[in-house]
Amino acid sequence: MTCFSSTDESAHYGFSVCMLLEQYRSRLRWEEEGVVELGSGDATAISDVVRALPGLRVAGYDISATSVEAARANIADRGVADRYTVEPGDFFDQADAAGGPPVSTVISNPPYIPAPDGDIVMPELWGGVRGNDLVLRLLKAGYDNVITAVASYSDPLETVRTAEDLGYRVVNFLAMGLDYGTYSSEPKVRDHIRRLCAEGRGWAGDDQYMVAIALFTRNPDVPGDRAEQLLRALQIAV
Ligand SMILES: C[S@@+](CC[C@H](N)C(=O)[O-])C[C@H]1O[C@@H](n2cnc3c(N)ncnc32)[C@H](O)[C@@H]1O
Repeated sequence: MTCFSSTDESAHYGFSVCMLLEQYRSRLRWEEEGVVELGSGDATAISDVVRALPGLRVAGYDISATSVEAARANIADRGVADRYTVEPGDFFDQADAAGGPPVSTVISNPPYIPAPDGDIVMPELWGGVRGNDLVLRLLKAGYDNVITAVASYSDPLETVRTAEDLGYRVVNFLAMGLDYGTYSSEPKVRDHIRRLCAEGRGWAGDDQYMVAIALFTRNPDVPGDRAEQLLRALQIAV
């Protein structure tokens, strides 16, 4: 079993989470409550955020035992073990066992690789047939604030419209162009992405796509709605 590895994407995730938490510091109440994380990977991205934001506590979960081992070592190396923990297991089982969302904010760079089935290079990164299964589950899990990656080839229109139906607004986001890496380049995945985009369920260029880290909220104290800008940044016609 391997550990997720994509330096540019992890840096984009960490930087964007830091920006969004900082920008909406008082409204999101993360200093009082802490946040939870679905899929910490090797934890390098968010360890740096925890170092940068002294009031932040993060309870992370990862389904991959190899990732949890790497995460714990990286967290210890960076000296943030008192404020960042990573436990093994399925995030949704842990949340259910705790009796629902213990805090109001969840952060995630969730699995979003679309493929006909989960038999891909790293099965833990399978996001279902359209790639957005995990982000949709997160939006239905009951958190008021969801900071999550949204990929341009994983049916972002369905994600945003489902979020709206659930009462969320897109408060803000940071979008970045990424080149296909190990996981998107797998021929079975690449062909599937091409089909999805041809059906109007996403956008990808030649070996490149867009990923936005977006803050979805149901909290009336956090103003703004940039859903249409998010879709346009992901190259989706609205
Ligand atoms: C795209 S990687 C992101 C890793 C890290 N956050 C980063 O950005 O570098 C997604 C991670 O989610 C984990 N994962 C997948 N399904 C999960 C689940 N149901 N519960 C917890 N972790 C999960 C995978 O093992 C993987 O490490």
